[in-house]
Amino acid sequence: MATPGSGFWSFGSEERSGEAENPGTAKAWCQAAQKFTGGIGTKLCALLYGDGEKPTETGAKEDLDSAEKAPACTCTDKPCSCQRADINYAFLHSTDLLPACNGEITTLSFLQDVMDILLQYVVKSFDRSTKVIDFHYPNELLQEYNWELADQPQTLEEILLNCRTTLKYAIKTGHPRYFNQLSTGLDMVGLAADWLTSTANTNIGKMIPSDLERRIIEAKQKGFVPFLVSATAGTTVYGAFDPLLAIADICKKYKIWMHVDAAWGGGLLMSRKHKWKLNGVERANSVTWNPHKMMGVPLQCSALLVREEGLMQSCNQMHASYLFQQDKHYDLSYDTGDKALQCGRHVDVFKLWLMWRAKGTTGFEAQIDKCLELAEYLYNKIKNREGYEMVFDGKPQHTNVCFWYVPPSLRSMEDNEERMNRLLKVAPVIKARMMEYGTTMVSYQPLGDKVNFFRMVISNPAATHQDIDFLIEEIERLGQDL
Ligand SMILES: Cc1ncc(COP(=O)(O)O)c(C=O)c1O
Repeated sequence: MATPGSGFWSFGSEERSGEAENPGTAKAWCQAAQKFTGGIGTKLCALLYGDGEKPTETGAKEDLDSAEKAPACTCTDKPCSCQRADINYAFLHSTDLLPACNGEITTLSFLQDVMDILLQYVVKSFDRSTKVIDFHYPNELLQEYNWELADQPQTLEEILLNCRTTLKYAIKTGHPRYFNQLSTGLDMVGLAADWLTSTANTNIGKMIPSDLERRIIEAKQKGFVPFLVSATAGTTVYGAFDPLLAIADICKKYKIWMHVDAAWGGGLLMSRKHKWKLNGVERANSVTWNPHKMMGVPLQCSALLVREEGLMQSCNQMHASYLFQQDKHYDLSYDTGDKALQCGRHVDVFKLWLMWRAKGTTGFEAQIDKCLELAEYLYNKIKNREGYEMVFDGKPQHTNVCFWYVPPSLRSMEDNEERMNRLLKVAPVIKARMMEYGTTMVSYQPLGDKVNFFRMVISNPAATHQDIDFLIEEIERLGQDL
């Protein structure tokens, strides 16, 4: 068994790693890639580095950083790989990547390095002389490496190392000799599609405790057995937080399961300034939390947290002996398959873990605080501005800012049915125009007796004050004639 930490970069089997080549280099990658039949490797190599840039077997391109040998960049699309500067990841963090100002080169370089790591994994996966798994006991890996999530961010060097280490010890599910009905095989087009969808990431009324208690009593009197209260921390439309402490008291009193849907609001727990809005969540029996919403983890990443240890297992386990054998040679508590309702699942939590390592708790906190601050900025900007009406009173609790834009032609109209009928068409027309121009996009919808209104939510870490200003200008530009 290879010593943990050694040979991350070796191509082919670890046993062949006598080749002292550092396969992290373009040269090593291309040398390995060229072994593939049908010229696929050469094509991949050319795609990665450009035909003119293809590293030669003599290693002459190793000197690319020497200025006199570097050919002048003639690429029209910037940033290009020619611009890859001498980047030292030991001093860089995720905050140096886009959307950071001037983050293009660092981002390009970082993503190319990730791509190199992935491509090497792909190449190795199909090489029959590579082990299907470089097996280490889970406790060995836990001892050998630092997997902890900390307050402070890790450097990008550490993040790249995390990626390599994870892939080194992961099962090579694409390996021709990995036989499994669920997660086997690695289709190149499917992989491209997965990257594409991840890159595009295409994803106040509150509960009144006294009313909740009244309804529980009523239900019991009618002979029903209320067994679950589903409170919401961050409602979808208004971003409202139910009073969780009071709800927890009622659930305790009537012995009712307390669930908190914190799909949208759970991210605020990362913020020392805003987490009080979820006070009482610690008393819930179960919580839903979608880091793919407020925390910006690429779709999808959803968690169901359950207080009672072992409950998921006892509810969901099927003891399917054809799937989950109990006589394996390692600690079975690391097998999570039998705890979940589903069988086939993506390892979505890895995205959250790696992002958390890279940002640290403080990084997520800053990201979330910034979004809330931008929402407050928008609210302050429009609450007294001519042509705007807020849908609910008071400052938003989350980043949901709900408002109507009232075009000049409706401003002096009486608040009657005709005005409502005209107002309900305003947001859809403005939205359609936004989409046609492609300048910005924001959601709208009706709710109860409230006609279509704009629902701005800010969870995009790239948004700035200027983008909020732009949105308002655009709404006015596109809606003033309505
Ligand atoms: C409060 C709340 N719960 C649950 C969901 C469902 O989220 P998903 O389908 O992404 O898991 C949403 C979606 O917006 C939501 O706002």
